[in-house]
Amino acid sequence: MWKDIDISLEKTETPKPKPAVEELGFGRHFTDHMFRMDWNREQGWQQARICSYQPFEMDPAATVLHYGQAIFEGLKAYRGDNGQIYLFRPLDNLERMNRGAVRMSMPRFPVDLILQGLKALVYLDRDWIPEANGASLYLRPTMIGVDPFLGLKPADNYIFYLIMSPVGSYYAGGFSPTKIFVCRDYVRAVKGGVGEVKTAGNYAASLLAYEMANKAGYTQVLWLDACERRYVEEVGTSNIFFMLDDTLVTPPLGGSILGGITRDSVIKLARSWDIKVEERPVTIDEVLAASQDGTLKESFATGTAAVISPVGELFCDDTGYPINRGEAGPLAERLFEELQAIQYGRSEDPFKWTMRVG
Ligand code: COI
Repeated sequence: MWKDIDISLEKTETPKPKPAVEELGFGRHFTDHMFRMDWNREQGWQQARICSYQPFEMDPAATVLHYGQAIFEGLKAYRGDNGQIYLFRPLDNLERMNRGAVRMSMPRFPVDLILQGLKALVYLDRDWIPEANGASLYLRPTMIGVDPFLGLKPADNYIFYLIMSPVGSYYAGGFSPTKIFVCRDYVRAVKGGVGEVKTAGNYAASLLAYEMANKAGYTQVLWLDACERRYVEEVGTSNIFFMLDDTLVTPPLGGSILGGITRDSVIKLARSWDIKVEERPVTIDEVLAASQDGTLKESFATGTAAVISPVGELFCDDTGYPINRGEAGPLAERLFEELQAIQYGRSEDPFKWTMRVG
């Protein structure tokens, strides 16, 4: 059934003006076109199309609006110095999304078809890919359940869509150290739940703690495990790393943590530089003690949107713990530079992470 789907194209007649690079910010502007495909239980996926960026009409009873059947991804397209367009590990994002679909009782989608649509969409809107270093085109594939039905069950109708936004840095400060608030009052996810899925509700549930941290002057929240509130899990919307002595340590994926693609890239890059990397449980007490006895050399968060985000301070139980004197560490800088060099096609790509478009 999947193999027979063609992607139709309907170009916009009213292209929008493009924002200047210095006005980009993150996720505020959207390109001229989007991809969309519909699913219903009898016919499966159908009507794959690229059309003008447009609102949906949705029934007020739609499943996603009440029970949150929604999954999404974030990946980026880059304009290299040579004008070539690169995607970074797009298949990893699409495969992770399909695993999330299974967990959320949503239909899997044909990865090859979506990749074909994604590449065609990026190429069609290629003039929206910003050329400035650090800027990129952020792609947001999303799937939602849309049955007009208030009984609780998996929907019988879904929309898969993909929108694109030219972006600069996720944080207004760019690659500069963030201050992180260790959250003791709320948790993000529990093993056996949906913490490893990029589903909308995880992000909604994080907002109250984020707001509290933000009001107190912190950039993000550091989440601890739900059972003992001792083990470090994630920071805000990203994975977290600590350089403890000469070992790079990050919490293991155990179901409550998102298996970040930037996380995986950092682990592989660091190992290729002969840096010892451990994916192991790490308690907040170990991290704070290391910051006091000087063995915590540096810390950074990783994610598609934020790339590498150095952590300059942890704030826990009314006490501030500076890291690397509040400055970005050398490993965070090296990883940021090397990842970007690969993503923009300036450097060798030994891991075959990039995919050319056009
Ligand atoms: C990403 O890093 O791509 C994310 O999905 C985080 C999002 C909250 C911006």
